[in-house]
Amino acid sequence: MIKRIGVLTSGGDSPGMNAAIRAVTRSALAQGIEVYGIHDGYKGIIDENIEKMESRSVSDIMVRGGTILGSARLPEFRDREVLQRAVDILHKYEIDALVTIGGDGTYRGALALTQLGINCIGLPGTIDNDIACTDYTIGFDTALNTIIQAVDKLRDTSSSHHRCSVVEVMGNHCGDLALYAGISSGAELIITPEEGYVEQEVLEKMRLMDEKRKKRHAIIILSEKITDAEILASKISKHTSFSGRSTVLGHVQRGGSPTAFDRVLATRMGDKAVELLANDQGGQCVGIIGNDIVAFPIAEALDMSKKSRKYLHDLHERLV
Ligand code: F6P
Repeated sequence: MIKRIGVLTSGGDSPGMNAAIRAVTRSALAQGIEVYGIHDGYKGIIDENIEKMESRSVSDIMVRGGTILGSARLPEFRDREVLQRAVDILHKYEIDALVTIGGDGTYRGALALTQLGINCIGLPGTIDNDIACTDYTIGFDTALNTIIQAVDKLRDTSSSHHRCSVVEVMGNHCGDLALYAGISSGAELIITPEEGYVEQEVLEKMRLMDEKRKKRHAIIILSEKITDAEILASKISKHTSFSGRSTVLGHVQRGGSPTAFDRVLATRMGDKAVELLANDQGGQCVGIIGNDIVAFPIAEALDMSKKSRKYLHDLHERLV
């Protein structure tokens, strides 16, 4: 039976991470398992930035965005020596197992530690929704709502000026934030890595919206890392009668109080992580499929491909 676990958040922060820390801490304490919070991701193990958590340590954090434990990316965490040092430090603190909250980089660290004898459970904490073994990641819903609020405001002003707003959203190499934001804000066009980008086709579609559909304004939701939003907006100004404007939403998408959906998701997942560790299971990551909280071996999860979203793209195009 495990006596002591650690919890950490790693990679880009996401709203709902605090709700997950709270659930892990309180579920573990309720089962008589001690909890240590590790600051700044895997780096906090190496730096021994580790503190004992009590029930009070997680009071009032559910509503807060970001992560009270801090987060960091540590690329060296792949090196055998660094990993072994982490294992030695965890042994020194008598930490038997870990809950690691983050994206796929975090999962790789969790898998490596598990292979070295420290059972780890990964929780999907990222706004990108780019983890294949779960329908939703913790933070995606909140980021989506932040994007929609911004796009609704942009729509007000762009409709007053016969403008086309190109709104760049995050997602890393996953188009889910763009796709869901585009559908829920009634955008005229959604550009994602999955569906690809052909500049001429985009300009043609905007000419159609302008000349044939006589739209007063248009919104394009563009996934990051595909093309430059400002250049696209200026081409739209040149090739259509819309005046193109670009907005890069940036890190505002990662902040803010988590939505009820993310709080409940994080709470359920945090509790599941403790249940798995208490049953001596490691090297697993938690997901939600339908409304069920499930677990997959991390190695398997990292190899899975995301389900196609083509039907959602098609649905959007039919309704524009
Ligand atoms: O993975 C989360 C994410 O916000 C991505 O959407 C984005 O590409 C990246 O992190 C930004 O990273 P950073 O905060 O290091 O600029």
